[in-house]
Amino acid sequence: MVAPLAEAQVFQDRLLSLGLARVSEAAAIACAPLIGRGDEKAADQAAVNAMRDQLNLLDISGVVVIGEGERDEAPMLFIGEEVGTGKGPAVDIALDPLEGTTLTAKDMPNALTVIAMAPRGTLLHAPDVYMDKLAIGPGFKPGTVTFNMSPSERVSALAAAKGVSTMQITVCVLERPRHEALIDELRGTGASIRLITDGDVAGVMHCAEPDVTGIDMYMGSGGAPEGVLAAAALKCMGGQFFGKLMFRNDDERGRARKAGIANFDRVYTRDDLVRGDVIFAATGVTQGSILRGIQREPGYITTETILMRSKTGSIRRMSYRSPLR
Ligand code: FBP
Repeated sequence: MVAPLAEAQVFQDRLLSLGLARVSEAAAIACAPLIGRGDEKAADQAAVNAMRDQLNLLDISGVVVIGEGERDEAPMLFIGEEVGTGKGPAVDIALDPLEGTTLTAKDMPNALTVIAMAPRGTLLHAPDVYMDKLAIGPGFKPGTVTFNMSPSERVSALAAAKGVSTMQITVCVLERPRHEALIDELRGTGASIRLITDGDVAGVMHCAEPDVTGIDMYMGSGGAPEGVLAAAALKCMGGQFFGKLMFRNDDERGRARKAGIANFDRVYTRDDLVRGDVIFAATGVTQGSILRGIQREPGYITTETILMRSKTGSIRRMSYRSPLR
């Protein structure tokens, strides 16, 4: 029999997860009027304000560990900011109020609002540097692909594990000049490459639903904070994730030291980045393959949110129709 206290804790955890969905919904609704308006900053600010207001209503004793930046760079949702009413459990919060600011400003696919919550001390405090990322979806044995394999070896290994030819593998990569060599090598394998202009949290999440998205693997470098959010999503959806921090200068190494990182060569697995259970919520802003974007009709706005808990493996997709105020 479950002790009454434990039961209360489970219930609280469930309620909190619903609260988290409201947080990502609120951020998406706030930046809706700025979709396609060419103003990244305004869209991001609207999402930040709404996410912070809604987050502060939750009964948690939260600390932002992945946020809008260092305290001196970001007045709101900065790293270390305490959030919530202070009355609930001690938790780490990782968030990106608008993942894909340019996607939103240009009304391009897969912009999301994203937030994850985990017990205090269990999320990596990733510095604002790049991370080299590798992800595949669920259902593969550990070691199917490894970070140490070359990009072409990863494609061959995944194709062998799926029992298909390399031509039938699709890899998602951020389109950046720094990825030219990676893309050339991948082309040499015959794999198909889905190039995205931004939004690698969504890029990684695509690997978890290959039948829907057509994407088998994610590779390349992007923001390290986004790497922690992507790992949180995959911990709920299933799938493997590896990430290695990349440093371009001493300032970036200093940021890592300040975040408590001592080993600069470490390859982090999904469960190194997210060490305990995690709740993850994301709401679609622009139209996407994982989530519908914001829908408008006279007097109403509708969002779609994915809400997931790693503890139970539950995945909820929620449609929310809100009267326009
Ligand atoms: P923003 O939403 O902050 O614009 O970030 C979008 C993004 O594409 C992330 O998804 C990705 O991790 C990062 O930028 C890549 O950085 P860069 O544009 O420097 O290659």
